[in-house]
Amino acid sequence: MLIIGCSNSRKLAKKVAKNIKAEYSALTVKKFPDGELYIKFEADLKNKEVILVQTLYPANESLLEIILAGHTAKELGAKKIKLVIPYLAYIRQDKRFNPGEAVSSKIIGKLLNFFDEIITIDPHLHRYKSLNEVFHTKTKNLTANQLIMDYISKKYKKPMIVGPDEESYQWAKQIAEKIKADVAILKKTRYSPKKVKVKIESKIEIKNKEVIIIDDIISTGKTILKTIEHIKKNNPKSISVIGIHGIFADKITYEKIRKNTKEIATTNTISNKHAKIDVTGLIANSL
Ligand code: R5P
Repeated sequence: MLIIGCSNSRKLAKKVAKNIKAEYSALTVKKFPDGELYIKFEADLKNKEVILVQTLYPANESLLEIILAGHTAKELGAKKIKLVIPYLAYIRQDKRFNPGEAVSSKIIGKLLNFFDEIITIDPHLHRYKSLNEVFHTKTKNLTANQLIMDYISKKYKKPMIVGPDEESYQWAKQIAEKIKADVAILKKTRYSPKKVKVKIESKIEIKNKEVIIIDDIISTGKTILKTIEHIKKNNPKSISVIGIHGIFADKITYEKIRKNTKEIATTNTISNKHAKIDVTGLIANSL
């Protein structure tokens, strides 16, 4: 087995290779002066089971890189090619919300179906019930929920879990139930990619509680920030944030989140300075 670290997941890929004692090689990626991508494998791929590891943030160039790499690996004689995508971008675009829009997730699925297997962590399955609605190739859908539970259990005595919207139940509610913590799932209305509103539907007691907001993706951070602002009115003891995929695309929002929280923790599906929950073992076991 040969693990290939693509440009956005080299560190993680290296750790996975070490964990399963597999050969590791980094994919060389450069840019031509006009912006076109250049990729080159440095290891011999012939007759090997090749695992490409690449998170899809930033989404577009990362995607093009794995399409070039995957096809090249086939041409170079790889026996089998698996793609590990720690964070699967584009999956939220799972329907035509407005006439004329692309259902991007399905199109991305078609582009990646030539891989023998696709492994990903906590994809945002909302309207889709399974990855089989996106990909026709073999897939594995891993979850970091257990790692998050372990993290919370080590650091918090009696936290209260808050999910910012109905879609967060797969993470917030399931984690809360397993660690036997109180949970509140808020109602979110999204007006645009950067404008969201959240509200607490039922009467819940937040006063003096150690609140942990859990969501799958922290993208602009607006969902988390609105949740923090809403919860703060109820005088909690502290507010922490745990996200699986930490993008933090909007720096001003990020700063506001940081200033208003006891801590921010994410997994390392996307490398960022809050990536305290390590998914190496999760990926390694799936291989
Ligand atoms: C969608 O429902 C997801 O679970 C996240 O809540 C959402 O993607 C977060 O996006 P943002 O950080 O841009 O508000």
